[in-house]
Amino acid sequence: MRAGNDAIAVVILAAGQGSRMLSELPKVLHKIGGVPMVGHAIAAARTLEPERLIVVAGHGADAVRKAVGALDAEAQIALQDQQLGTGHAVRQAMPALEGFEGRVIVLYGDTPFISPETLAALRDHPADVVVLGFDAADPGRYGRLVTGPRGLERIVEYKDADEATRAITLCNSGVLAADAAMLGALLGRLTNENAAGEYYLTDIPALARGEGASVDVVRCDEAETLGINTRAELAGAEAIFQASARRAALDSGVTLTAPETVYFALDTAIGRDAVIGPSVIFGPGVSVESGAEIAGFCHLEGCHIASGATVGPFARLRPGAEIGGDAHIGNFVEVKNSVLAEGVKVGHLTYLGDADIGAHSNIGAGTVTCNYDGVMKHRTTIGEAAFIGSDTMLVAPVRIGARAMTGSGSVITQDVPDEALGLGRAKQVNKPGLAARIMAALRQTKAQKHQKKDQG
Ligand code: UD1
Ligand code: CA
Repeated sequence: MRAGNDAIAVVILAAGQGSRMLSELPKVLHKIGGVPMVGHAIAAARTLEPERLIVVAGHGADAVRKAVGALDAEAQIALQDQQLGTGHAVRQAMPALEGFEGRVIVLYGDTPFISPETLAALRDHPADVVVLGFDAADPGRYGRLVTGPRGLERIVEYKDADEATRAITLCNSGVLAADAAMLGALLGRLTNENAAGEYYLTDIPALARGEGASVDVVRCDEAETLGINTRAELAGAEAIFQASARRAALDSGVTLTAPETVYFALDTAIGRDAVIGPSVIFGPGVSVESGAEIAGFCHLEGCHIASGATVGPFARLRPGAEIGGDAHIGNFVEVKNSVLAEGVKVGHLTYLGDADIGAHSNIGAGTVTCNYDGVMKHRTTIGEAAFIGSDTMLVAPVRIGARAMTGSGSVITQDVPDEALGLGRAKQVNKPGLAARIMAALRQTKAQKHQKKDQG
């Protein structure tokens, strides 16, 4: 028996092909809540504050390595070139566990809904080896947990089970916790003499028993163990994720006027008393402070919206958009990689990319930061309390001073000093009577054309 307060390492199995997805993309990189499936397992694992986190990759290992690196800079990758079974997979992680003393918890990369509470129960259980089991409504082809008075006796894989064992409904989720040194030693003793010809991780409990170790089961809800094998299951998992994210938002004091139309990402963070309208879509990396309001049909990704700001309807905030307190972003406005200070107003039909905008500036309708010259990106800087006239083209790099203005329809290619008015448009001339003469001439041309047609 163990004290239950030792160090934790997590191994996530993600080497399988997932052939039933019919995909070029490794299964664990298909997304749920805007984040690759394996990211959900990593996020759950991180709640245990593990000393080490190792992802075992095989099929599409380069892509998995890249995605995992982007999700978690501290995670290590172990390679399993050939998928010889779950026990073999964990064995490939042992070199990365060199020198680690404590409890290893094995998770699957394609099982995204294991809860932090369940992982904590596995961490805290006193047995030397602990398996996460569940009572299956339809036990199907899951491994069966054979229990006795001393806890878990052994796991029998479906393929290897007799009728009596197949009648057991307590099933193996695949999640297992064991002391690192014991696990390492027992993995070395696995054989592939079974119906699948694989090295089963599920043989570990019986081997541990043989050594006199304590082995037990922690039970969880079947919903937590949901694994994804097909596109239909992926879509089902997305629906489950969204339903629980909506409930969590409502439970934390966020107003959702039409919850079933709002889509969240795994890491969406929304403060109390924020109001989210219908059909708002959150991509990864969005935080909304309390009291902000996002009106309907907005698409947000990688952005931060400060308290009191109002966004939308029909706005798009892309990565690097920082919307200051009490700022306003109106309809058909796109903001990318731009910092808008407090109280900035961008009401309509505008693109702001690679810009810094000072407090309380007003950006007129139809303004465009021309940030891309075809090769490089350039920044636009606008001082505080500036007034950008409607339909201003800000050709970056360019700087507009504090309290400066630009005339409507200007193409601004040079800096505008503080408090100056920048005008970059053709001077207006009026031609008396010319409009009427042009209209008369056009009508005459049209009449002559019709005449020719009638005669011809
Ligand atoms: C496994 C369990 C079974 C359990 C079920 C729960 C074993 C032998 N069986 O069966 O008791 O009820 O999960 O879903 O462990 N993987 C690798 N490398 C490999 C093999 C698998 O990384 O060589 C990964 C897969 O990518 C997957 C996970 O391990 O994420 C489970 O593998 P899978 O082949 O689906 O196991 P099952 O046959 O479903
Ligand atoms: Ca499986």
